[in-house]
Amino acid sequence: MRRVDHLGGRMSALEAGEGPVAVLVHGFPLDARMWTDQIDGLAGPSRRVIGVDLRGHGRSPWQGDESHAMDVFADDVVGLIGSLGEGAVDLVGLSMGGYVVLALAERRPDLIRTLALVDTRATADTPEGKAGRDATAAGLVANGRAWLAETLLPRLVADGASAIVRGRMRSMIEGQSFETIVADLAGMRDRPDRTAVLGGLPVPVGVIVGEDDILTPPSDAETMVELCSTAELTVVPDAGHMAPMEAPGSVNDALAALWSRGS
Ligand code: MLT
Repeated sequence: MRRVDHLGGRMSALEAGEGPVAVLVHGFPLDARMWTDQIDGLAGPSRRVIGVDLRGHGRSPWQGDESHAMDVFADDVVGLIGSLGEGAVDLVGLSMGGYVVLALAERRPDLIRTLALVDTRATADTPEGKAGRDATAAGLVANGRAWLAETLLPRLVADGASAIVRGRMRSMIEGQSFETIVADLAGMRDRPDRTAVLGGLPVPVGVIVGEDDILTPPSDAETMVELCSTAELTVVPDAGHMAPMEAPGSVNDALAALWSRGS
């Protein structure tokens, strides 16, 4: 696996392999390191797998935004895909990354060969959810990233998650800047409903969800599959919201099956 800085302009990424490209978009408040098991497991002589750091995350610099609109993240990913010159890619988004890939699918479906929606939803925040975003931002600024990690971790991973998965999560959460986390929360709060995008997707879609995901539960995944004629559902045993880290073998199998539907 190699670290590539300045991919498509200002984005940093972790990548490996050669050939048809897959682009993986991380969740909140994480970075490309959440995908190391997918990059290690799925990249090879016939697949180039790229996990991006969205602006402000990991090693991609914050660019002064008070809000990270999902459309702005999507435009960054569009720019990165364009810079590769490979045409359409296999696109994967987890949770906030799912909001980003749906925003991308709305504007540039021609750039997508297959789409994986992992532990995510297509609906907007409820009024209670929006208020929760502001409360989380205030709590973060008052109490710090360790507080945020303590608050989020029990909701992000299943009870049985290993210490190493919890440790990796904590390193990523505590490694993001305050301004990035606050901007993410504003962007997620204000994102529109993208349920309608699901009905018009012209490519194979995989909806993948941890069976113990309490943030975007299997019922949300089932709703997305019902709305999308090209979608197939995978429910991952022994995993919560961070299924790619908690059960990488099952998630990699589901992604490999999806990608073979697109070739
Ligand atoms: C994520 O994992 O990206 C977040 O849980 C998404 C959200 O809070 O809506």
